[in-house]
Amino acid sequence: MTQVMIAPSMLSCDFSKLGADIAQVERAGVKWLHIDVMDGHFVPNITIGPPVVKSVRKASSLFLDVHLMIDDPLKFAEPFAQAGADLINFHIEVAPEPARVIEEIRRLGKKVGVTIKPKTPVEAIENVLDKVDMVLVMSVEPGFAGQKFMPEVLPKVSALRERMGPQADIQIDGGIAPGTVREAAAAGANIFVAGSAVFGREDRAAAVADLVEGALEGARVWMR
Ligand code: DX5
Ligand code: ZN
Repeated sequence: MTQVMIAPSMLSCDFSKLGADIAQVERAGVKWLHIDVMDGHFVPNITIGPPVVKSVRKASSLFLDVHLMIDDPLKFAEPFAQAGADLINFHIEVAPEPARVIEEIRRLGKKVGVTIKPKTPVEAIENVLDKVDMVLVMSVEPGFAGQKFMPEVLPKVSALRERMGPQADIQIDGGIAPGTVREAAAAGANIFVAGSAVFGREDRAAAVADLVEGALEGARVWMR
């Protein structure tokens, strides 16, 4: 059965107490940690590199979902895999030969995700849908946490759910909060990245519980 999951985004942690922040969401019952890697080229921001992932790997047993927002996923898949990523997600917009990136991530023994930005159509990933473990639909322009959810991407989520069936993992990332998670789930997403909605609240367990509740309600439409 497909699972509804919240993947807290580390980008909204207080990096001076990363271990404690991560331990709190782990105790709240989450299974995945979303790690936003930005290179200052593909997106106008710079964030996290392999050394940080390596430290997180040592400190936590969460499934590490690494979202590469970088120009050259083929070059950097290996250092992130070695650092301890469990899944490596690349953007189709920077992969003229996506099959090569997928092959490389598989060679490294990791799960693979492919991502589309808000304005990238589903057709751009049509040829690789059956080769990946997860599809990520961005619901903000990648680059920063705390942006406003873009409901106009939801028809793409629905089209993917329709196309991929009830078992597929479809992730949505950007502006997910108690007020938006329900509609994202109803459209067909089952893995919800949330930065500010989790780490921006004092009580992380309550934050996760609120998101799970909304997600389960929304997903009732299609989940079986
Ligand atoms: C945006 C990142 C997101 C972001 C989510 O480029 O990919 O993962 O950190 O943060 P919120 O949930 O605050 O929109
Ligand atoms: Zn992300």
